[in-house]
Amino acid sequence: MKILSIETSCDETAIALLDITGPLEKPGVKILGNALYSQAKLHEQYGGVHPSLAKREHIKNLPILLEKVLEEAGSEFDFIAVTTGPGLEPALWTGITFAQDLGKKWSKPVVGINHMQGHIYSVLLGNESLAFPAVALLVSGGHTELVEIQDFGKYKLLGHTLDDAAGESFDKVARMLGLPYPGGPEIGRLAAEARNAHLEAEFKLPRPMIHSQNLNFSFSGLKTAVLYKVQDSEVTEHFKKVMAREFEDSVMDVLVAKTRQALESAEIEPETLIISGGVAASPYLRERFKALVQEFPNLKLCFPTRELATDNAVMIGLAAYVQVTIEPEALSNQLELRASGNLSF
Ligand code: KG4
Ligand code: ZN
Repeated sequence: MKILSIETSCDETAIALLDITGPLEKPGVKILGNALYSQAKLHEQYGGVHPSLAKREHIKNLPILLEKVLEEAGSEFDFIAVTTGPGLEPALWTGITFAQDLGKKWSKPVVGINHMQGHIYSVLLGNESLAFPAVALLVSGGHTELVEIQDFGKYKLLGHTLDDAAGESFDKVARMLGLPYPGGPEIGRLAAEARNAHLEAEFKLPRPMIHSQNLNFSFSGLKTAVLYKVQDSEVTEHFKKVMAREFEDSVMDVLVAKTRQALESAEIEPETLIISGGVAASPYLRERFKALVQEFPNLKLCFPTRELATDNAVMIGLAAYVQVTIEPEALSNQLELRASGNLSF
């Protein structure tokens, strides 16, 4: 099955053409074409993603990326998959309109894809066969969610952030420390330097909701705690390093504790733990979760490759393969697609 996939939910414009065959648990995937343009540098001055700038850039770059992909992969495909949410609505609409125009021009069906399912199925590449039931921790710039997946297409949201997403808190703290956007990799780099040099902060940041009985998260109080500390201190290179370390430790302590709680409270013993989304690119996060799964002897840990952890179109193609395999009528029942900023599972 050849799928042309399009992703524009945030600040990455991405198009891929995939040829996917075989069982959902371990499909054969050929990436025939793959093009991605990150707008991160343009949004840097705002310390986060500016929706109308994102929209303008997507509109400008989609035709350029399409040409590149078709040149690489040829123009033969069975259907188009496009992210319809969650994300920034003006940005989502650019991809949807582009996909629908192409669908009309080439007489191909267009299927709407949930971006978070894209993050889940990003692990279909670079891992052994995917076994359910699973628990997934989705950690990105817009979301922090724990999801139980009983089988392909069967999801239950276990918990989510009540305010900021984990990635968003990395970005905001980075800005407070005068570091560039996106903040995750920058904080990670400074925190690693602090750990290697055995530098530790003399203060402790809170671990929000770590002892709460539910599986929700909250990172906005942590961000405020950092702000007070920054206002109170001389922001030296040493301070930045120890702050980055303490902040990263706080976020990871909470993510690990909540995931442990989700695994222990699952009704059916999970076979797989999936960690994906932009923050899952963090080497320190990977270390922490490798340690966590030691506590669960039969649990398999799946991460996406580093390239597929942050937003991309390959994961949208993978999620589309899952969707049309379990629901083939999606290809014949062509519904009008709409952007849905808060699309849930
Ligand atoms: O999944 P993603 O590319 O976009 C959304 O769907 O939001 O995630 C982007 C987020 C940003 O907040 C970025 O700071 C964070 O992922 N991120 C990281 C790392 N790389 C990206 N956070 C921590 N450590 C990293 N290495
Ligand atoms: Zn994402």
